[in-house]
Amino acid sequence: MNNERFEKYYKAQNILPEDEWDQFLESLRAPLPTTFRVAGSRQTARLLNDTIKETHVPHLAGVVFEGEAVSPPTQISWYPEGLAWQFNVSKKVLRKSPEFKKFHNFLVFETEVGNISRQEAVSMLPPLFLEVEPHHRVLDMCAAPGSKTAQLLEALHAQDTVTSSSFPPGLLIANDSDHKRTHLLIHQSARLPSPALMVTNHDASIYPAIKIPSEHITFASDTKTRVVNKRQHQLLFDRILCDVPCSGDGTMRKNLGIWKTWSPMDGNGLHGLQLRILQRAMRMLRKGGRIVYSTCSINPVENEAVIAAALKSMPDFELIDMSNHLPALIFRQGITSWIPTADRSVVLDFPTFDDYIKTHPHK
Ligand SMILES: C[S@@+](CC[C@H](N)C(=O)[O-])C[C@H]1O[C@@H](n2cnc3c(N)ncnc32)[C@H](O)[C@@H]1O
Repeated sequence: MNNERFEKYYKAQNILPEDEWDQFLESLRAPLPTTFRVAGSRQTARLLNDTIKETHVPHLAGVVFEGEAVSPPTQISWYPEGLAWQFNVSKKVLRKSPEFKKFHNFLVFETEVGNISRQEAVSMLPPLFLEVEPHHRVLDMCAAPGSKTAQLLEALHAQDTVTSSSFPPGLLIANDSDHKRTHLLIHQSARLPSPALMVTNHDASIYPAIKIPSEHITFASDTKTRVVNKRQHQLLFDRILCDVPCSGDGTMRKNLGIWKTWSPMDGNGLHGLQLRILQRAMRMLRKGGRIVYSTCSINPVENEAVIAAALKSMPDFELIDMSNHLPALIFRQGITSWIPTADRSVVLDFPTFDDYIKTHPHK
């Protein structure tokens, strides 16, 4: 699996030190491990997690299949309370090893009843950085198929117990512009039925302002009578997730087709929409609120360049430093300069936009 344009483009962006490049490509070619999250309210999740740790993992330790030792599932180090797991075994082992087959059946059952969520490890990160609390008003702008929506909803329901479901004071609106995918969202959310969830089907870049009634109480100074003005005001959100449509070139490990088709134009073509979605989110955020912007691309044009343009257009916003939020997470800081390219053949001769424009005197 190779793509010269991909290598040329990303080497020029300096996304990694030169000496890590081979190891990076090797990782992109390695199969993705199976990862899952123990879902549901905190209390329910802890109980099930203990069962995995104390019953299943010891049973899977020491399994030998066709003469080779198979490693048991391990907890993902950075996930809070050890509630996320990964394991790396082939389909053959899952089908044929009696111990793993039993564990697989357990996972399938618990997934069906909503206690376990199969989710890629990286996809678990954006909701964690949002730090949703039960009273928050949350908007998930590009939500389908809904794995992050489920995580956000669980955070709203953090106070549920094993036997009773709470009525969170906050709410979650999960939106997607794709009609069919919006149905997926509804289907997914049936696993955690919640009165706090609403699903909408809009283009996030022009998401409508939602008006809610506000009781405005004033006291007329002379008479001390209470005057109630029934007014409406725009619903502003405490937390917004912008998990925007992207080129997906960070998913090459599972979407092998991207190796063949990758072109820098994929990211270039999406930058405008991504920026408009983020700017719309900024206009719907309550003062002091938080937006998490995420993609499954490694392209700075879809990431850093979108954030930079958004911050430039609305200087009242600031980046929050979350580097200490998940202490065990290994990460690299975002980059501050990049070299866009204007065509499929990855011509990178223009370090700045002005240099590019100079070659097009009529523009
Ligand atoms: C990266 S996926 C979202 C994945 C989802 N957050 C999850 O964790 O399951 C991007 C989604 O954006 C939706 N989308 C594309 N253009 C959109 C737009 N203009 N407004 C809202 N959603 C859009 C796509 O239908 C797709 O479902």
